Amino acid sequence: MSDASTNSDEQPGTDWVFGYGSLIYKVDFPYRRREVASISGWKRRFWQGSHDHRGTPQAPGRVVTLIPSPGTLCRGMAYEVDHAVYEHLDHREKNGYQRHRVDIDLVEAGGTVKGTLYVAGTDNPAFLGPAGAAEMADQILASHGPSGSNREYLLELDKALREIGETDLHVAELARILRNI
Ligand code: SIN
Repeated sequence: MSDASTNSDEQPGTDWVFGYGSLIYKVDFPYRRREVASISGWKRRFWQGSHDHRGTPQAPGRVVTLIPSPGTLCRGMAYEVDHAVYEHLDHREKNGYQRHRVDIDLVEAGGTVKGTLYVAGTDNPAFLGPAGAAEMADQILASHGPSGSNREYLLELDKALREIGETDLHVAELARILRNI
């Protein structure tokens, strides 16, 4: 259970989940409340391989994970959810992602809540790591998986980030290159 001392809004049996990738725009789970939010100390990068959603084991796509980055703010969406939602989210985020506890700042509502995010660490077998922007964009353009095209993942994320007022130069650069290929 989260630390109630920083989380006066939390209802019993509920938790907050912070989404920074597809969890911002593909909301296939019930939630009680949704708030634009940010976390500190992490940056978003297309460094995680996707074998199960936007690629295949033979031809993995690229999706985002978080990399520790002291002082960096990462904006996303926070959802207040019932704990039962983890059954679905743990399955959805199974390819290398693990739950991690963080402080989540609610940008518009104000205040800080404790919550969970899914991060794919550099030691997970599907981690791809950095590559040149053009190479990553080529890989994203070429990749498809059971959840759809990798291209759609990138462009939907780019759009969703702009809608919540986030300037993410890494995502924006990949989207710009991909649109021009
Ligand atoms: C997230 O969206 O928070 C995790 C990464 C993803 O599912 O795209």
